[in-house]
Amino acid sequence: MAGNPDTRTPSNEGRAGWFSGKNLISIKDFSKAHIEDMLDKSEAMLHSLERHERRLDLQSKIMATLFFEPSTRTRLSFESAMQRLGGGAIGFADASTSSSAKGETLADTVKIVSSYADIIVIRHPKAGAMAEAVENASVPVINAGDGIGEHPTQALIDLFTIRMEKKRLGGLDIALVGDLKNGRTIHSLAYALAMFGNNLTLIAPDALQMPEGMVEDIKSRYHVEVSRSDSLDEAGRCEVVYIPRVQKERFTDIDEYHRFAKYYVVNRDFLEKADGDPIIMSPLPRTEEISRDIDNMKNSVYFKQASYGVPVRMAILSMILEGIK
Ligand code: CP
Repeated sequence: MAGNPDTRTPSNEGRAGWFSGKNLISIKDFSKAHIEDMLDKSEAMLHSLERHERRLDLQSKIMATLFFEPSTRTRLSFESAMQRLGGGAIGFADASTSSSAKGETLADTVKIVSSYADIIVIRHPKAGAMAEAVENASVPVINAGDGIGEHPTQALIDLFTIRMEKKRLGGLDIALVGDLKNGRTIHSLAYALAMFGNNLTLIAPDALQMPEGMVEDIKSRYHVEVSRSDSLDEAGRCEVVYIPRVQKERFTDIDEYHRFAKYYVVNRDFLEKADGDPIIMSPLPRTEEISRDIDNMKNSVYFKQASYGVPVRMAILSMILEGIK
């Protein structure tokens, strides 16, 4: 079974790097040094892509993508990343076409796919499903989103975007806005931002606020300021505003979803009044929460953010598969 990242740091790595053969399940498994190493490698991959280099780092390696929930960015950018590194990709984008529709368990699926691929990327509706996958896989597993749990590779893309835009990763005032209860990208990102010493403003209606236990855990681990509000005006003074869509698929009451779908909308009016001149970020897809009328404004970095999915995932795949026969 491939293990989680251990205590080796980038500075004391041996021949194979600290990430070689490991799983990527939770952002909480990594230190700042680990994350900075991943972001440095991502930047090198970005420059390589800009130079149109033909890379063969992962020639003869195969990645399997097992997606039990819909995706555009995560699955396709992982597949693009693998192919940009000379490797191959197999998998399914629709679990109803896989044998899970006949009752096969996740455990059996990853056991089998471990003999077809060198690494497995999984998206699953159940928070915590990755533990079952890791237990049964004999190759590294990457969490591509587990229910309302985590989406750690998205958090790495988000951090990379902030570093590219702001030229630093700490000491920023950052607003997380909207569905902070169900958004798995938020759950990974909040930990990562706090780890780097950013101050967080959590803006949500009470029903969609970040779970209290998570807020307390973040505060006690990283000793950063975390404040709560239900007013979007609070976001205007921040340097970064991160606003995912309200997660419709997590609501049991569709009327409740419709009550919150347009609760906050970032638009031209918001940006014109915003003292902090914030960049606007989103994991996408967007629904109602980001007005199309800001797409061409300099603050709107969400499409660039999505494009960074390829270099960041190239970095992740090459670091995990480095030194693996
Ligand atoms: N950001 C993100 O996870 O997008 P997809 O659902 O399209 O993969």
